[in-house]
Amino acid sequence: MKGVRGMSWAVVKVVAGFAAAALASPALSETRYDAATRVFRLDGGGVTYAFGVSTTGVLKSIYWGPRLASSDTLAVPVLDDISTTDPASSIDAQEFASWGGAIYTEPAFKIAWPDGVRDAVLRYRSFKPEGDGLAIELADTRRPIRVTLHYTIDTATGVVGRWATISNDGSTPIRIDQAFSAAWSLPVAHDYRLHYLTGQWAAEWMLQERPITPGSTVIESRRGITSHQASPWFAIDRAGLSGEESGPVWFGALGWSGSWRISIDQNPRGDIRVTGGLNPFDFSLRLQPRQSLDTPVFYGGYSDGGMGGASRLLHRFELARVLPGRPEPPLRPVLYDSWEATGFAVDATKQIALAERAARVGVERFVMDDGWFGQRNSDRAGLGDWVVNDQKFPHGLAPLINRVHELGMDFGLWVEPEMVSPDSDLYRAHPDWVLGMAGRQRTEERHQLVLNLARTDVRDHVYKALDDLLNQNSIQFLKWDNNRDWAEAGWPELAPEDQQAVYVKYIRNLYWIIDQLRTHHPGLEIESCAGGGGRVDLGVLQRTDEVWTSDNTDPFDRLTIQDGFTHAFTPAVMMAWVTDSPNWANNRSTSLRYRFLSAMQGGLGVGADLGKWTDAEMAEAGRYVSAYKQVRRTVQRGDLYRLVSPRAGSERSATFYVARDRQQAVLFTFLHSSTKFDKQPAITVRGLDPAARYRVRAIDRPAVAANPVQSGAYWMANGIDIPLTGDFQADARIFEVAK
Ligand code: GLA
Repeated sequence: MKGVRGMSWAVVKVVAGFAAAALASPALSETRYDAATRVFRLDGGGVTYAFGVSTTGVLKSIYWGPRLASSDTLAVPVLDDISTTDPASSIDAQEFASWGGAIYTEPAFKIAWPDGVRDAVLRYRSFKPEGDGLAIELADTRRPIRVTLHYTIDTATGVVGRWATISNDGSTPIRIDQAFSAAWSLPVAHDYRLHYLTGQWAAEWMLQERPITPGSTVIESRRGITSHQASPWFAIDRAGLSGEESGPVWFGALGWSGSWRISIDQNPRGDIRVTGGLNPFDFSLRLQPRQSLDTPVFYGGYSDGGMGGASRLLHRFELARVLPGRPEPPLRPVLYDSWEATGFAVDATKQIALAERAARVGVERFVMDDGWFGQRNSDRAGLGDWVVNDQKFPHGLAPLINRVHELGMDFGLWVEPEMVSPDSDLYRAHPDWVLGMAGRQRTEERHQLVLNLARTDVRDHVYKALDDLLNQNSIQFLKWDNNRDWAEAGWPELAPEDQQAVYVKYIRNLYWIIDQLRTHHPGLEIESCAGGGGRVDLGVLQRTDEVWTSDNTDPFDRLTIQDGFTHAFTPAVMMAWVTDSPNWANNRSTSLRYRFLSAMQGGLGVGADLGKWTDAEMAEAGRYVSAYKQVRRTVQRGDLYRLVSPRAGSERSATFYVARDRQQAVLFTFLHSSTKFDKQPAITVRGLDPAARYRVRAIDRPAVAANPVQSGAYWMANGIDIPLTGDFQADARIFEVAK
């Protein structure tokens, strides 16, 4: 290694980066190895991550937190047994603990050999630079199995990416029962709090908080998809030190769209370990000689700016390093979707009429939802038959698509490629193509079954159906839906020992299909939808441009849903539609203004039956759409400050988006209901340039010279009065640097 620094530090890799001024962090990331102490150290953004090799070859975690000085020395911790029942090996913070020796914590790795041997003792072998990061090789002390741990660190945000490759170097198959991506360790403390997201259909993204005490908290999906019920994201802060905008927060997110598990464990001493990756529940994979398995990436980050700081880092990371089009993904166009307007009753005439109305309000992408294919007149038939229904579209999709293009919009289409209705030509031809166990019931959800995408023939069929659709029609966007979870995840054509690999092989093939489509249809954009927000994770976001946040389009319910969502995911991918009032979800009536301002906090869409809107409503909608276009870069690319939380029955809530160059910011405020004697405090904003002078105006009124102009420092210290009275009131203000 070249470039020796200080004593014996060898620079493995130095990456010059562009850390933004607002991050106040060094503009470099560095990966180093100290041969004398056998310590590895990754520095990036405001973060240092370190681990090292013990005298017995165990790879131990050392440090994860605020960036340290380059000159700081770090040492591999040496732990003595506490007692016979608490041996050091059970307390040691290992980077990737295998089940072998006296280990009682959650192992990252558990295997079985055909002769019944089930332990593995992984020891350090070597390291090598890999891309911007490192690869560390561990191997069992006696048998030919190797684990390569991969590490990356992002220069701008300090987000660390970790995954493992498990390789069978021997001549017999090995059964893998548990293969997590990484374990993250935190030092002993007694006031840690865990934040995580749970939900259900039409009520996703509910933020949960609980103290971490000795014991385990497991968040997971056993459903074959990421799930509505839990999201593969966590954040840990310190009750005594942290809040929304201050204090330490460690966070992590998995890049995986199948069954996953994150286990947060604290031992009685107070050490924390977070282990996560593929869900071991009902999973096993037989690794043949010379085969290897890559686990999903588990990203981890640290912020000393509270939950808000943590989510801003994660948003930046997702935009610059995860999403298609990274580091500058394209902005979300304003979308129209037909689902709430027409349900399954789509046809060329109705869709063209809707498209014409949509274009009038400034929509940029028209999406025809469910109902256009096969015998799809309800949710009981047609999935799998991706051919245009010729009763509804006697001349194919061309007349509709041409009209949409003439109107200056993109055309998008709804598909649900992984599914099949028992009442479909595809199922009649291939009843064996679905997940299921031989001779057992096949549970239907929404009257549909799951195609076994793990099979190569099924994968190729699904790919071809979509590829044909895209070749035959000028389609710029797919809304890729998935309206059920798995049950009876069998793969009866394989030997029993190989069937449970379906949990990995299915998802890899799903990714393969999407990746191939994108390669062969450049410019195609995709939305990840799963009956609302059931498939949102950093794996699918590497290959889809946006997500359908929730089927719940009520603008008040959405405030809490969106608040939870933005803890883990950037508002740039968070689609939100303005639909009709009263809302189908809860019969609540709200003004068009309230609906638009709620939906403008992410990627704006319209999902109403526009044929019913009056000319006045159309004109008002047009004004909001054009106002949105003025602030969309700030909303989708800026820094989000959740100023007042809508959670826990809050009467008021507010979000603030600040453009990266701090030239513009936008404040959204919502009132649930007021009472006579309410005195609502001024809303104190954040993130502005203190020295710049900002003019503030209402989003739905043109700027006038008389609008107040004050310094960023003033607005951040004094706040701004947003007097709202009544029920379900909303306000939005644009802050712009006065020229
Ligand atoms: C799911 C989606 C909806 C809509 C319907 C169509 O529920 O989340 O937006 O596309 O399917 O069946």
